[in-house]
Amino acid sequence: MRMRKRKNLAARMESAAAWLVRDAEQTAGHWREILPGCTRLLVELGCGMGRFACDTAAAEPESMIVALERVPDAIVIGMERARREGLQNIRFVLADAGNLEKLFAPGEIDRLFIHFCDPWPHWKTAPRRLVARNFLRVYRPLLSENGTLRFKTDNAPLFAFAQKELAAEGWIVTGCDEDSPPEAVMTEYETKFRALGVPIGALTARLF
Ligand SMILES: C[S@@+](CC[C@H](N)C(=O)[O-])C[C@H]1O[C@@H](n2cnc3c(N)ncnc32)[C@H](O)[C@@H]1O
Repeated sequence: MRMRKRKNLAARMESAAAWLVRDAEQTAGHWREILPGCTRLLVELGCGMGRFACDTAAAEPESMIVALERVPDAIVIGMERARREGLQNIRFVLADAGNLEKLFAPGEIDRLFIHFCDPWPHWKTAPRRLVARNFLRVYRPLLSENGTLRFKTDNAPLFAFAQKELAAEGWIVTGCDEDSPPEAVMTEYETKFRALGVPIGALTARLF
């Protein structure tokens, strides 16, 4: 995603710093402690400007949401929104999804969301797709016993690729729909694509 540079980025990040976890590696295994009594830990990879993560946090106050993104100009928008809305059950992490195993303990994540990730269409760049098997192997140990992965995309070849990779890695795919109905909470990209009438592929995968 090409993201325009935000003015005063450093100051804006600082003003919403309470919603950013800078020492995320030290928080591995302790994310639930941010929201004592929380029922489950949800993680979104590549959260962009945080619309889905913030709306989910507001809709599910008993869940703890960790929204990970590698572009500061995008994540700051989500951080500011969380501050504006006073959301207590969401934190943002500025990191690459490739480092996920350092940020969470085994079995810690109940639901992992990947929405409209970059398709990296050339075969040589396939390992950079967040649903490629090298990533699935990172996610696997981090999911809880009943943990699930939720994936959505407008890109049909990427949707087919995800199904192939999940099957190859032994995941069980449920609720797989190439033209999925809208859900109550949507991402920025989903909102734009649905307005254009683009079909959205969606699936849920679990390990057992
Ligand atoms: C196409 S945008 C979709 C944003 C949002 N998920 C949505 O559906 O509106 C993909 C986002 O994933 C982020 N991203 C891509 N690869 C990433 C990675 N390896 N680690 C963290 N974020 C990543 C990009 O910076 C971008 O913000």
